[in-house]
Amino acid sequence: MEIGTIGAGAFAQGFAKRALKAGHKVKLSNRRGPDSLREIVNQLGSGATAAAKEEAAACEMVLLAVPWDNVPETLASLPEWNNQILIDGTNPFHGQDGDFTPADVGNLSTSQLVAALAPGARVVKALNNMIVSNLEADPIVNGARRVVFISADDDGAKKRVQTLLEGFGYSVIDLGNLRDGGLIQQAGGPLAGRNLLEQGERHK
Ligand SMILES: NC(=O)c1ccc[n+]([C@@H]2O[C@H](COP(=O)([O-])OP(=O)(O)OC[C@H]3O[C@@H](n4cnc5c(N)ncnc54)[C@H](OP(=O)(O)O)[C@@H]3O)[C@@H](O)[C@H]2O)c1
Repeated sequence: MEIGTIGAGAFAQGFAKRALKAGHKVKLSNRRGPDSLREIVNQLGSGATAAAKEEAAACEMVLLAVPWDNVPETLASLPEWNNQILIDGTNPFHGQDGDFTPADVGNLSTSQLVAALAPGARVVKALNNMIVSNLEADPIVNGARRVVFISADDDGAKKRVQTLLEGFGYSVIDLGNLRDGGLIQQAGGPLAGRNLLEQGERHK
């Protein structure tokens, strides 16, 4: 599969490494344009390309990986969504570079807000608990799989992201819809920032 990224910073690059390892192609995009990404895609290697953000957003699956304060302007700058799956990996903090001042998102979960700003996209909240060093590290630790959480209102989209992330090597925990699951996994929720491992096979 070809996956686009909107944003090509630390988080998107960590994601790209995992996706490339799992055999996918990744089209990275940022604000400054593809020329600014040449060195990064060269380092990522075969399967990674630099693209305009409109081109990255046209992929069937797209990772949103921009700072929270930039989410509204970023989504407003993209063409209309046409049922692409939008993986929302953002965390609602103001500022950048380790500034963890929480943003006020009112009554919605942050991914509900993202979904409202991206009509036509099938939004799945995922990976926001994975700090880059864990994303870049082996998904298997002493035989146990790193845990990621997903939430979405669209069950088909959620299943596809689950399959993608299981293909990366993760154990995926489905937390439900964007409202309830989103509030549990987003910053401030009980599973925010958790670095969990699952040992052995799950007995369903
Ligand atoms: N870092 C982590 O460990 C981590 C883990 C989980 C989730 N996250 C979340 O992932 C998101 C990105 O974090 P990061 O650490 O990757 O940030 P970062 O390294 O600062 O990268 C931000 C990226 O967003 C791009 N961007 C900003 N405004 C844009 C716009 N209007 N259109 C297109 N691209 C735009 C920037 O492009 P330019 O360089 O061209 O400006 C840059 O490529 C945040 O919401 C963060 O909370 C981060």
